[in-house]
Amino acid sequence: MALLRLFSSALFASVLCAAAPTASSSTTRVYCGDFDTLTSAASQNIFSTDAWGNDGSGASCISIPAGDDSFSATWKWTKNQDNVHAFPNVRLVSTQLPVQLLNLTSLNLAVDWSMTPSDGSSSLSAIGASADVVIDMFLDPNRITASSSSTKPKYEVMVWMGQFGYANAIGANITKTPPTYKLNGTTFSLYTGPNGNGQTVFSWLAASNITSFNFDISPLFDYLTSHNLLPATTYLGSVQYGTEAFHATSNVTFSASNFNLKVTKGIKKASMAMGGVAPNLALIAFLGLGGVVALL
Ligand SMILES: *[C@@H]1O[C@H](CO)[C@@H](O)[C@H](O)[C@H]1NC(C)=O
Ligand SMILES: *[C@@H]1O[C@H](CO)[C@@H](O)[C@H](O)[C@H]1NC(C)=O
Ligand SMILES: *[C@@H]1O[C@H](CO)[C@@H](O)[C@H](O)[C@H]1NC(C)=O
Ligand SMILES: *[C@@H]1O[C@H](CO)[C@@H](O)[C@H](O)[C@H]1NC(C)=O
Ligand SMILES: *[C@@H]1O[C@H](CO)[C@@H](O)[C@H](O)[C@H]1NC(C)=O
Repeated sequence: MALLRLFSSALFASVLCAAAPTASSSTTRVYCGDFDTLTSAASQNIFSTDAWGNDGSGASCISIPAGDDSFSATWKWTKNQDNVHAFPNVRLVSTQLPVQLLNLTSLNLAVDWSMTPSDGSSSLSAIGASADVVIDMFLDPNRITASSSSTKPKYEVMVWMGQFGYANAIGANITKTPPTYKLNGTTFSLYTGPNGNGQTVFSWLAASNITSFNFDISPLFDYLTSHNLLPATTYLGSVQYGTEAFHATSNVTFSASNFNLKVTKGIKKASMAMGGVAPNLALIAFLGLGGVVALL
């Protein structure tokens, strides 16, 4: 009994220690539950395991080292290869969100990342790895809806900086000649279509894997508004960065480091919001079709 009490008071002391902000940010923290989260004391950003598609065919853990400017995810999912099993990610928490697109001055993301087989002995294709590396954002005409859910907002906008295996953007198997936009020297292609929640998804795919990403991606939103694909009054509510894990027969490790995620709002210069080329008629026709499909 005395021994037990001694043990439990030692345990209590260590729990108290771990709860102190300085102690919690000086150690690596590991989470393996489906919906575990950690709010960074330094940035307020929220790290999530987000194994929303867990079908029992694998596992996924995230690890957040001291400093909260990096994280890694180690995962394997062996069934339902066309489905997203988990989206280990970090969500930006900012007083600048939600923001109407007409006031989005900049949205900067800097990050260095890698995706490798965990045991280092084989290639990603040898273990059937399928995954993407994305910035995933939700938008809605209503400012509350835009930030309070990932299924209710009307729009999802994704920026793909990495693509492995057969992971592909919604609409990429239909649209053969997508509109493109060159951002800071890199060409991004735009695909669109409805997802399973009836949301209209716009996906900007980088022409190659950009493992050292450092962009202001707000011009990709300016393109959508100036081509009447998204109303400029729409609110951007949620910004997340991470990897959507589809499939692998043995563990994959995704690592993201030195990330810096920042959004600023204000008065946009007219030249930033307008410009670009004529609207893509095929895309608009496809959007109309997508609306019908979503209604059915
Ligand atoms: C594979 O990854 C899972 C989830 O992160 C982990 O629990 C397991 O220990 C890893 N297995 C090996 C052999 O590394
Ligand atoms: C495109 O892929 C979707 C799944 O993302 C599928 O439902 C659809 O049938 C495919 N369309 C074509 C033309 O292959
Ligand atoms: C990213 O790298 C993988 C593995 O090398 C490759 O198969 C894939 O085509 C690359 N993606 C792009 C968009 O270049
Ligand atoms: C363009 O790329 C360079 C090099 O990665 C980076 O330093 C700079 O911030 C980028 N500029 C914008 C506007 O994204
Ligand atoms: C948003 O943009 C509008 C139009 O330029 C401007 O009148 C308004 O002051 C901006 N709002 C903020 C918060 O900067």
